[in-house]
Parts: sequence; C-alpha cells; structure tokens
Amino acid sequence: MSRILNARITFRTTPVHMLEKFMMKDHKDAYRRFRESGLEECVIVQTCNRVELFGRASEADYSGIIRTWSEVTGLDGGAFGAMETGEDAEAIRHLLDLVSGLDSMVVGEEQVLGQVRESIASAKDAGASGMHLNTLFDRAARVGTRIRNVTGLGKEGVSVGSMAVRLAEENVNDLKSKGVLVIGTGEVATLVAKSLARRGYSFSVASRTLQRAAAFCEAVGGDPVRFEDVLADFGRYDVSFVATTAPFFLVAYDAVATLSTISGMMILDLSNPRAVDERIATIPGVKLMNLDQIGEMVERNMKDRANKAEAIQGTISGEVSALEASMRRLEAEPLVNETFRVIEEIRARELAKAVQMVGDADPRTVRIMDDMSRAVLEGIASTPMNNIRRASEHGDMDVLEVAARIFDYDI
Ligand SMILES: NC(=O)c1ccc[n+]([C@@H]2O[C@H](COP(=O)([O-])OP(=O)(O)OC[C@H]3O[C@@H](n4cnc5c(N)ncnc54)[C@H](OP(=O)(O)O)[C@@H]3O)[C@@H](O)[C@H]2O)c1
Repeated sequence: MSRILNARITFRTTPVHMLEKFMMKDHKDAYRRFRESGLEECVIVQTCNRVELFGRASEADYSGIIRTWSEVTGLDGGAFGAMETGEDAEAIRHLLDLVSGLDSMVVGEEQVLGQVRESIASAKDAGASGMHLNTLFDRAARVGTRIRNVTGLGKEGVSVGSMAVRLAEENVNDLKSKGVLVIGTGEVATLVAKSLARRGYSFSVASRTLQRAAAFCEAVGGDPVRFEDVLADFGRYDVSFVATTAPFFLVAYDAVATLSTISGMMILDLSNPRAVDERIATIPGVKLMNLDQIGEMVERNMKDRANKAEAIQGTISGEVSALEASMRRLEAEPLVNETFRVIEEIRARELAKAVQMVGDADPRTVRIMDDMSRAVLEGIASTPMNNIRRASEHGDMDVLEVAARIFDYDI
C-alpha cells in the first residue's frame, strides 16, 4: 500500500532568510530527480515562508528525500536538521492546515490557498502528480475554501501586507501626516498598497520604471515616484514598505546613514531575501523590521484568530479521516479499472461473434444484445468491485491482494 509523505522546511524551524537556500529553482529537474529516487508522485509547494514536498511512495524514505533535495539545491545533507516530516493522516492534516491558513505566519492569510492551487497545477503540468495527489490537493483546496467561508477566518482580507500596515500604525504616531513609501509593484506591494488605500493613507510608489509605478498607482492608488529620486531623498519618507525580489540590498546602508537628520523612521522589509541592509537597524532613530520580526509581532496580535483556529482544528480532524479513506480507496482503482477493462474486452468480442452468428441482425436486435450483455456483466461484477473498493477504503489490504490474485492482476 502506498503512503502519502510530507517533508518540509518552514519559518517555524528556520529563519525566513535561510529558507531561500532550500528553494528548488528548477521544478522540472527536481520533479524528475524525486521521481527517479522512488517517489511515485510528488508536488513541491514553495512560498516565502516554506519549502515543502508532498509525495506518494511505497515507504517513507526520508533519507532518500534529503539526498535528492541536497542534489537539487547543492546543500549538504547535514543542513536538513530542521526538516519536519509526516505521513498519511499527519501529512493530510498538515496540508489542510496549510490551505486553511492555520500554518501561515499570518494566520488565516489568503495567498497560501492560491499558492497551493498553483503548486498542484504545475505538478500536473510536469506530469509529477497522479491520481492520489491530484485528488488529495483538489479536495484539500475545496476544504480550505469551505473553512474560510464558514469561519470567516481571512474575511477581513488579512495578508502580510495588511499586517505590515497595522504594525506601522502601531509604531508610528499620526501615520496620516507622514511620508509613506512602497517600493515594488508586485503581489505583496499590491497587498500593502490596497491596505493603505483602504485605510485612507496617501503614499508614494517606486518601481524600477516610472511607467510601471504609474500603472500600479492607477490600479491601486498612491503617487508614482522615480526610484532614483527616492534614494536621493530617502529622508522624506517616514515609513517605507519594501517588497521586491531584488537579489541585492535595494536600500543600502549609506542611503540612510548619510541622511542628516532622522526622527523616527520606520522601514518594513517584506522581502525574502532581504532587500534592506540589516545594518540600517543600528542607525539611531531608525526602526527596521524584517519578515521574521513581522511574523513574531503578528503572532502576538493573533489571540482572536487563535481561538478561531481552534474551532477549525475540529473541522479539519473530520476531513482528515475522510480524505485518508479516499486515499486508501484509490489503492483499489487500478485493479478495479483493469478488471472492468478486461471484462469489457470479453463482452465486446463475444457480442461481435454473436452478432455475426445471427447474420442479418437488425439494429434493434443488436442494441438489445448489447444492452443485455452489459447488464449481465455489470450485475455480476459491480458487487465484488464495490466490495473490493470498500475493503481498500477500510485498509483491508488482504482482500485487495486476494482479489488481485483471483483476477490475475499484478499489484
Ligand atoms: N507572495 C507572498 O505571499 C509573500 C509573502 C511574504 C513575503 N514575500 C516576499 O515579498 C517580496 C515580493 O514578493 P512578490 O510576491 O510581491 O513578488 P512579485 O510579485 O514577483 O514582485 C516583485 C517586485 O520586485 C520588483 N523587483 C524585482 N527585481 C528587482 C530589482 N532587481 N530591483 C528592484 N526591484 C525589483 C519588481 O518591481 P518593478 O519591476 O516594478 O521594479 C516587482 O514589483 C519577495 O521577496 C517575497 O519573497 C512574498
């Protein structure tokens, strides 16, 4: 019987800026290697806060997974000490926690559900996932949506963007009168800008090109500014949200250290890898927060969400058993499908022979013979096939093995 496996490195055990090292850049290549290493199916889920692998295999060989993951990332096998694992019910529960937003840094955030959907879509595209993981992920995504709708978790549009804006409000007096800047025009910058606009703040937006900043502001609000102008006069901005994928420090130490007067500047670096030089935190009058620190602050502000989360755990527990049963039931599908295929082949062959023997059978007679042969076979085969499925659902693998022997099927 095959098992569902999960191996993950997440913000829970590893600082966010270290996660980058575990990311798998070339998914196609990674999928090929994991398949070759013995996973029958696999799905990679990567977000800013996690790198995860879901797999299906006949046994839980985590050292094999680490070996392949090391090959893909160039890391030493010893670097995987913080890897968490879980199989079957645990792996399914974790996936449901994930899609419900319970395992997120900002509990209940909405992006993760979309990210999980994208992950399974790209695994399907790459031919890496199959019947089991496709079924599991599709159903998990539906459960995630339902949980959010029923509980209202995430209803207020909570995101890393809105949490960052809330943190700025908590830390800066009279934010409305301050110079607020957003650097970046991507997904996270959009979340920040939407949240700022919703709360009535004015802000500037910098992008590598002014046109992109202008198009962004047209869509979500704010005033576009030239990136060079921003860095030349960084002191104008009391609060900056930095959300880019720049592979270097976009806001360098000198850009801030050389400012003549700083009175209460706050910089929130939402980027991973970081886009703001951490040494800036040592400059008097500057408060720099990175994604890890934002996560910690968020956790402290999450009491009411935690209560909701507890209620959701109950719903998830019920879903875990149902999904586990579905996974087990799928074990019988190849045998059942193959048996029905063989039966159908025999039926079609015998029907053709009979029609030929009748000679000039009119279409009505042929249809009656066809319907009858189908009805007889379905009447005989349905009950044993359903019993095989049911046995498989209950984990009664002996029945499956005996059935395979009876029907001459190689499992
Ligand atoms: N998505 C999430 O759920 C999430 C959550 C937490 C943190 N993060 C982190 O937030 C950051 C942004 O993520 P995202 O999802 O918003 O990415 P995204 O949608 O791909 O947007 C990336 C932005 O980075 C800017 N950019 C890219 N290369 C740049 C460079 N060399 N110099 C300056 N700007 C550059 C681009 O702006 P222009 O092309 O307009 O200049 C673009 O707007 C990432 O570091 C990510 O790890 C994401």
